[in-house]
Amino acid sequence: MQMLQNSVGRKLVMAVTGLFLFLFVVVHLLGNSSVFMGADGINSYAEHLHALGPVVWIFRLVLLGLFALHIFFGIQLTLENRAAREIEYNEKKNLRTSFGARTMIYTGLIILAFLLYHLLHFTMHVTNPEISVGALAPDALGRADVFTMMVLSFQKFFISLVYVGAMVTLLLHLSHGVQSLFQTLGWLGANSLPVMEKVGRAAAVVIFAGFISIPVSILLGLINV
Ligand code: HEM
Repeated sequence: MQMLQNSVGRKLVMAVTGLFLFLFVVVHLLGNSSVFMGADGINSYAEHLHALGPVVWIFRLVLLGLFALHIFFGIQLTLENRAAREIEYNEKKNLRTSFGARTMIYTGLIILAFLLYHLLHFTMHVTNPEISVGALAPDALGRADVFTMMVLSFQKFFISLVYVGAMVTLLLHLSHGVQSLFQTLGWLGANSLPVMEKVGRAAAVVIFAGFISIPVSILLGLINV
């Protein structure tokens, strides 16, 4: 607990929670990519997930805890850094940091807003109930029809636009976040810093391309119900 009272401890919490959230995003992308295998691919993936029963709820609680810690300490560190910068105002630190690094708090908060919308959309079926209600009708094999829900959703230009916009924000957040977490966890020697910056950016671009390929393919009519 004492560890959390200094900024190094808090940065460590940010890095560890960030690492697990990053792993979640990678796994989520791999799971969602089964939409490219058609209705059978994604519907059987979703069925297997939901069949895990209580494990799904344990997983959701852990995920919620990770997000809560990451957001709480992220806001706290930003406020601390701002206060410190006001004291050292003539150091002009901004000149040395990237756009991604300077905007972490804003991209983080936009991702949070997206996440709330995303849960209301795909998990709770609150937004666009006309799509969710249709999709909730089981497919030919009696499974929840996640495929139809995704296709009907992303056929709507505005929904796709929101998702693509959110993924641009995620790209910016991860392009700094991944290399920052390696640095905090001490996996960066002085020599490997530029390498890890490149690895972090490459990982962010791959995740961005993977996620946007779903709404874009549906908008282009490459995936259809
Ligand atoms: C094109 C991008 C995305 C698509 C198509 C997508 C798709 C989905 C779908 C279909 C579900 C509901 C799964 C179900 O209940 O069977 C879901 C849940 C979820 N998604 Fe996404 N997702 C995307 C991006 C993201 C991103 C970037 C994040 C995190 C930053 C994220 C976080 C979540 C979370 C936390 C859940 C709830 C998981 C649960 O209910 O246990 N998603 N997503």
